[in-house]
Amino acid sequence: MDATERIEKLKTEALSAVAGAGSTAELEDVRVKYLGRSAELTNTKKSIGRLPAEQRREVGRAANLATREIEEALSEHAARLTAAEREARLKAEAVDITLPGTPYPKGHLHPTQRVIDEVVDFFVGLGYRVAEGPEVETDYYNFTALNIPPGHPARMMQATFFLDDGLVLRTHTSPVQVRTMLAQEPPVYVIVPGRVYRRDSDPTHTPMFNQIEGLAVDRGLSLAHLKGTLAAMARSFFGEKTKTRFRPSYFQFTEPSVEMDVSCFVCGGSDPNCKVCKGAGWLEMLGAGMVDPAVLEEVGYDPEEYTGFAFGMGPDRMAMVRYGIPDLRLFFEGDLRFLRQF
Ligand code: PHE
Repeated sequence: MDATERIEKLKTEALSAVAGAGSTAELEDVRVKYLGRSAELTNTKKSIGRLPAEQRREVGRAANLATREIEEALSEHAARLTAAEREARLKAEAVDITLPGTPYPKGHLHPTQRVIDEVVDFFVGLGYRVAEGPEVETDYYNFTALNIPPGHPARMMQATFFLDDGLVLRTHTSPVQVRTMLAQEPPVYVIVPGRVYRRDSDPTHTPMFNQIEGLAVDRGLSLAHLKGTLAAMARSFFGEKTKTRFRPSYFQFTEPSVEMDVSCFVCGGSDPNCKVCKGAGWLEMLGAGMVDPAVLEEVGYDPEEYTGFAFGMGPDRMAMVRYGIPDLRLFFEGDLRFLRQF
């Protein structure tokens, strides 16, 4: 058999091996066997130079043609195999999207957090900005700057946790009023949610609880603006029918000072045996007042030019009322049997 015949035979053999390969891996073996570095055809091509001159051309041509044909067959068959393998893989990996998924236990927000979010959203809607401050506060911001000088009896009302070096756990969110005013010029419109601390523990008092402070300072603000703002908030929180009333009160950093009650959102004042308002018809809601000029002066605002109002409410208390919870301490015990009811 001369070289050309041998090449022809190799080619036929290779083509049928290609056609018989059942997978891309098998096909690769075929390629190596017939076209690889030590394949017979490859060697034949390498040794063409040693052939008698008159044979070189013909043998070379035959070898190249055979190589090309085998390559074409390889790539065609490879394409077919890859497509088939892909098809098979997709079939095997198919996901049944109608199967029910793994259910995840879904949590929810704490009742107090729901109240905080709702109140904050209301004030953000009016154009207020959220401000925050540290829970470990200096005596100055918690008391002195709020017109409660050292030795003043008003300090006693706050059942303060004193730390070393003139630091306290803040007893209210009002120090953030001072921090905010020191940091910017009027007009100020901020809403300040935060944790506060007092030495107190019974069914309606916990050593840590939440407050939401509000502060507005601008030209021409009056008690009417305070009342209108808080009445709108009460209606948004407890329902459109909610009425509000102001009672005179006292805070060192507001003058005049008021407490605001809202009409009972359960009985509206009509049920002497109402469990929520205990027949009073009204629920205590928050403390507020016009910012005392002494506080404005302390932060460098001119009280002749600017007036302001401030208010502070307890979202834990509001959540108790809204969800009918008798004991404030339940909010902080993290008992899932309790929390899951909301
Ligand atoms: N900081 C007061 C308190 O905790 C509440 C308050 C805030 C009153 C703002 C008036 C104005 O009792």
